[in-house]
Amino acid sequence: MNPVRPDSRGSPQSRSRDPQSIIVFGASGHGKVVMDVARRGGVEVTLVVDDDPKCHSLSGVPVLSALDPEWIATKEFNYIIAIGVNAARASVFDRLGTQGGIARTLVHPSSVVAESASLGAGTVACAGAVVNPDSVFGKNCILNTSCSVDHDCVLGDHVHVCPGVRLAGGVMAGDGVMFGTGAIVIPGVKIGAWSIVGAGAVVLRDVPDRCVVFGNPARVVRSIKRALPPIFQM
Ligand SMILES: CC(C)(COP(=O)(O)OP(=O)(O)OC[C@H]1O[C@@H](n2cnc3c(N)ncnc32)[C@H](O)[C@@H]1OP(=O)(O)O)[C@@H](O)C(=O)NCCC(=O)NCCS
Repeated sequence: MNPVRPDSRGSPQSRSRDPQSIIVFGASGHGKVVMDVARRGGVEVTLVVDDDPKCHSLSGVPVLSALDPEWIATKEFNYIIAIGVNAARASVFDRLGTQGGIARTLVHPSSVVAESASLGAGTVACAGAVVNPDSVFGKNCILNTSCSVDHDCVLGDHVHVCPGVRLAGGVMAGDGVMFGTGAIVIPGVKIGAWSIVGAGAVVLRDVPDRCVVFGNPARVVRSIKRALPPIFQM
């Protein structure tokens, strides 16, 4: 059963005019989480867009295919991207910007973000995420459930801090870094762009660009050369 009324998503124009409504891109489990963050912050999700044509509804909101003419005709909308894979999220972020989208920043009411911390456009702070003073996140990042980011951390665009991660003070990360679930990084460590810190890793030393590290202490296990999947190269 689809509990969504056919007219509840409004026209492309009505979506574009309401600053308190957003489109979520990505009908995944993380999409449900992001929708919950939005709703609890008083922001209405009017539409979900996904590349899977078999998905028609998510958490009571209609899902349109990314190739649907109605979606392609939509302009000047507010959006948030609910895709956990950083390279894919970055690719969609750039494309939606050229389509006239305005990236929103969402913070769950139970997340604590210090007054002097900043989150870039399109960044989401999920339930229980803590960001301490003078830490800075770039655009299109995910601060996932119950992560903590201490003072003076500087993180680039498209970073994903997975559930339960602990970043000590002064940690730096380039664009596209993924901190796997429960990873720990000690103070002042620098993580190179597009590197992946494995789940549960304990990072004691700087990590170069485009590497996978894991273990305690974390060590480089391989470099990353993989291209994006074709769907994200539109
Ligand atoms: C680090 C990671 C990216 C490696 O992925 P991968 O390259 O596909 O690695 P594989 O699964 O092929 O595992 C290769 C080996 O490394 C080990 N390994 C993988 N990840 C590990 C980790 N985080 N810590 C310790 N060992 C790990 C595996 O046990 C395996 O060992 P084996 O060869 O002795 O069997 C991945 O395991 C990981 O930790 N991802 C984080 C996922 C996450 O937190 N997602 C949250 C989304 S919200």
